[in-house]
Amino acid sequence: MKEIKRGAEAIIWLEGDQVIKERIKKSYRLQEIDEKLRKYRTRKEGKLLLEVQRIGVDAPNVSKISEEDFKIKMDYVEGTRLKELFSQASDEEIRRVSELAGKSVGILHKNGIVHGDLTTSNMILKDNRVFFIDFGLGENTSRIENLATDLSVLKEAFRSTHFKHLNPLWDSFIKGYKQTNDNFNKVLETLNDIEKRGRYVRRNE
Ligand SMILES: Nc1ncnc2c1ncn2[C@@H]1O[C@H](COP(=O)(O)OP(=O)(O)OP(=O)(O)O)[C@@H](O)[C@H]1O
Ligand SMILES: [Mg+2]
Repeated sequence: MKEIKRGAEAIIWLEGDQVIKERIKKSYRLQEIDEKLRKYRTRKEGKLLLEVQRIGVDAPNVSKISEEDFKIKMDYVEGTRLKELFSQASDEEIRRVSELAGKSVGILHKNGIVHGDLTTSNMILKDNRVFFIDFGLGENTSRIENLATDLSVLKEAFRSTHFKHLNPLWDSFIKGYKQTNDNFNKVLETLNDIEKRGRYVRRNE
């Protein structure tokens, strides 16, 4: 087993064509709370990965969830993270892939699934399909506020990591999102409110 990544809360091990995501101890948390949280997020992520595939969104297949040792075993998605892709692809490619991602997020939201950490590190392009990973902060909810917050996190990620391409990325993403989620108007209105509130808070800090 080889360690291939160390994220903010987990180590990713590669074992053949599978990865094991192990949520590691955070010593700044009280031990009891830390274990509960890691167990909960492991279970939640495993369940959501399975659910997401059932509704037709690409995500790695899960072969084992062991909440007792905070591990999930899943397929290794051998592709390019959108984080790296967007920093080197052509404008046309950027638009095309962002629209694909938008379509998938529209399907998630339509089915009452919020990802919770929509960033371009959590999306991998493989065989022209966008795979979603890292569902530990995900939720089953259809509340418009939660859906809009999900999009606001992504827009912030576009802004901070892909500023140069913010407009084409966002426009194409929303173009895709509208195709699969009829409720887009309400979600975008609420996103607007959230952004206004953000600007207000920042101005008064
Ligand atoms: N199934 C997978 N296939 C391919 N790569 C993966 C897979 N799971 C995780 N990775 C790689 O490991 C990185 C970290 O994984 P993940 O996002 O699940 O953990 P995390 O600790 O929540 O990370 P972060 O807090 O940095 O988002 C991903 O950005 C990706 O590069
Ligand atoms: Mg991640």
